[in-house]
Amino acid sequence: MQQKKFAVIGHPIGHSLSKPMHEAAFKKLNLPHTYDKLDIAPEDLEQFIKTTNLDGINVTIPHKVEVMKHLDEISNEAKQIKAVNTISFNETKTGNNTDWIGFQNSLKEEGIILENKNVLVIGAGGASRAILVSLTNNNNANVTLTNRTQQKAEDLVKELGIQDKVKIISYELLTTSHQLPQVDIIVNTTSVGMHPHEDQSPIPKELLKPNHIIFDLIYNPLKTKLMKDSEEIGCKTISGMSMLVHQGAQSLRIWLGIEPPIQTMKDAVMKSLIS
Ligand code: ATR
Repeated sequence: MQQKKFAVIGHPIGHSLSKPMHEAAFKKLNLPHTYDKLDIAPEDLEQFIKTTNLDGINVTIPHKVEVMKHLDEISNEAKQIKAVNTISFNETKTGNNTDWIGFQNSLKEEGIILENKNVLVIGAGGASRAILVSLTNNNNANVTLTNRTQQKAEDLVKELGIQDKVKIISYELLTTSHQLPQVDIIVNTTSVGMHPHEDQSPIPKELLKPNHIIFDLIYNPLKTKLMKDSEEIGCKTISGMSMLVHQGAQSLRIWLGIEPPIQTMKDAVMKSLIS
């Protein structure tokens, strides 16, 4: 089989989890392909995209938006989310966003159906864009959004064109009034609880109920305070590690048309996170 070459590009690129994750998948499937990590400075991005001989790349901060200018085609979801994290180089340079499907497949893996569920999304930063598009595009979920800076939540739903599908509530509901709206699934897209602030959680423990499903997009630490609190209460929890693996798996489907070895990829990410 012909060897194909892939990489993740970012700046700085630092410690990449994508590399061990994809290398483990190739090894498990006996594929000869390679996966590198490349530090590409913003001023070199255009030239890199024009001249690379790679077959596909993942794109991370700070290039996810800027890279769109240099592509021939962009998927509808990536256009709406306004971020590309996966590019395939064939006759055309095509940009995709696999975060939204990574989110959906993480829920599917746990047998969670979004239909008619009340979903509370916390946070209106970069990470929430794919989640909000995912929740409002294909599902009959009732979506509520809250963010410390409410104006940012209002601006974001307008920018994504989903203002009629998302209800915005005040962040103080979570932190001071100690009342949650009636909610089935809570998705944390903020950085609250991320290393090095492991002692923080966006939701006071006393608001959590056993019937809540908690999806924390953070994967460092693997178990955030929110997840620990939720488990103690008896909630079902999903870690950001799951979404990381499922978005990567979707990149492999796009590039190679293969069914990725999810568990192998999870094991590789876990090993990198604890080493
Ligand atoms: P990312 O791209 O990882 O989403 P971001 O765009 O900086 O990062 O967004 C971070 C999110 O976490 C935002 O929703 C931010 O809230 P603000 O819009 O009010 O800044 C949220 N966030 C970060 N620190 C927070 C804190 N201490 N309490 C509440 N929300 C916080």
